[in-house]
Amino acid sequence: MRCIGLMSGTSLDGIDGVLVEFAEGSSAGRVLSDASEPLPEDLRDALMHLQQPGPDELHRAAQASAALADAYAAVVARLLERGGVSAHQVAAIGAHGQTVRHMPPGHPRLQPHESPYTLQLLAPARLAEATGIAVVADFRSRDIAAGGQGAPLVPAFHRAAFGQPGTAVGVVNIGGIANLTALCADGALRGLDTGPGNVLLDGWCARHTGARYDANGAWAEQGHVVPALLEDLLADPYFARTGARSTGRDYFNLAWLDVRLARHPDARPADVQATLAALTVESIARAIENMHWATSNAAAPQRLWVCGGGAHNRALLEGLSRRLPATTVGTTAELGWPVQWVEAAAFAWLAHQTLLGQPGNATEVTGARGPRILGAVYPA
Ligand SMILES: Nc1ncnc2c1ncn2[C@@H]1O[C@H](COP(=O)(O)OP(=O)(O)OP(=O)(O)O)[C@@H](O)[C@H]1O
Ligand SMILES: [Mg+2]
Repeated sequence: MRCIGLMSGTSLDGIDGVLVEFAEGSSAGRVLSDASEPLPEDLRDALMHLQQPGPDELHRAAQASAALADAYAAVVARLLERGGVSAHQVAAIGAHGQTVRHMPPGHPRLQPHESPYTLQLLAPARLAEATGIAVVADFRSRDIAAGGQGAPLVPAFHRAAFGQPGTAVGVVNIGGIANLTALCADGALRGLDTGPGNVLLDGWCARHTGARYDANGAWAEQGHVVPALLEDLLADPYFARTGARSTGRDYFNLAWLDVRLARHPDARPADVQATLAALTVESIARAIENMHWATSNAAAPQRLWVCGGGAHNRALLEGLSRRLPATTVGTTAELGWPVQWVEAAAFAWLAHQTLLGQPGNATEVTGARGPRILGAVYPA
C-alpha cells in the first residue's frame, strides 16, 4: 500500500511531503519520492495572522484552508511525478494541516469550564477533489477527545523507523516546537514536546537581521549565552511540567520572549540568539535527563537522533553533543532518513494505520484514555 504524508509545521516555512510504500504490518515503510515547497508568501502571512485572535477569522480561516489545500495538491502532484506513480495507486494522503490553536488539557489559558481542543486548518474535501486521492486529516482531535494532549503523534512512527531492541534511543524533532521520543532499552515508549525548537530563534532572527532563519546557526555562534536570561526563560512553568505535555506557537512566541527580555535590557541581539539556542538545547537535555531510559546510566540514552530543520543548526546540534556527553548525537540522515522526511513520513504512516483500522496514538505519550484510530477520512 502506498500513502503520502504532508506536513506543514509550526515554523510556517513550507510543506514537506513524502510518498511511502508500506509492506506488511506496521513497518516504517520505504520512501519512493519526496518534495518540499515553501508556503506562498500571502498564505504564510494569512496563517501567521490566524495564530492570534482577530476580526472575521472564520472567513479568513476558510480562505487559508482552501489555499493550503491547493498548495498541498501541488506537492502531491510533484510526489506522484517524481515517484512515477499515478493517483489511483495511492491509498491515501495523510495531511496534517496548519495548526492555528493548540489548547490541550492543562493549557494555561484554558478556563476550568472550557473544553480542550486543537485546530489544524485545511480543506480536506478540496484536497481529495483536486488529487482524486482519499485524504485522512484532523489526526489530533480524537486523542484530545480521549483526554490526551493530541501531541506528539510521531513517537509510534519513530519507534517503527528508529527502534533498536535493547538499546536506549532518543529521537528529537526540532521544528518550530521540539518534540522528544524516548525508545527505552526495556521497550518502553515515552515522549513529549520539550518546548520551543526554532520558533523563537526564527522570530528573533527575522526581527534583527531580516532573514527568516539563522542559517546553520552562524549568528547564534557569534553571540554569548546570557546566563541570567537563560535562567529566566527556563523558569517558565512549562519546562517543569511532569507527565504528558504539548505546546505550540500560540504560547511560545515573540510576545512571550519580550516579556522576559524586558528584565534584561542590556542583552545584545546576538547574545539573545545564542541564549535562545541554549534554551532549545537545555530544555531538550533536561527532558532527556528526566526520563528513565532503562540503561545502566538511567539518565542517558546511548544514541540521540536529531531530525527536523533544526538539525541544520550547528549551535543546536553541537550544543546537544556538548550537553549530553554520555550520548552519541547524530542526525537521522545517517540512517537514510533525511531530516525533512521524518515528520512527513510519520503522517503517511499515521494515515496507513487509519486505513488498516489500527490506532495511531501512543497513550503513554499523549495521556489519552486508550489507543484510538485517528483522523477523519475523506474518500477519493
Ligand atoms: N540551514 C538551516 N540552518 C538553520 N536552521 C534551519 C536551516 N534549515 C531549516 N532550519 C530551521 O528549520 C525550520 C523548519 O523546520 P521544520 O520544517 O522541520 O519545522 P516545522 O515546519 O515547524 O515542522 P514540525 O512542526 O513538523 O516539526 C526553519 O524555520 C528553520 O528555523
Ligand atoms: Mg516545516
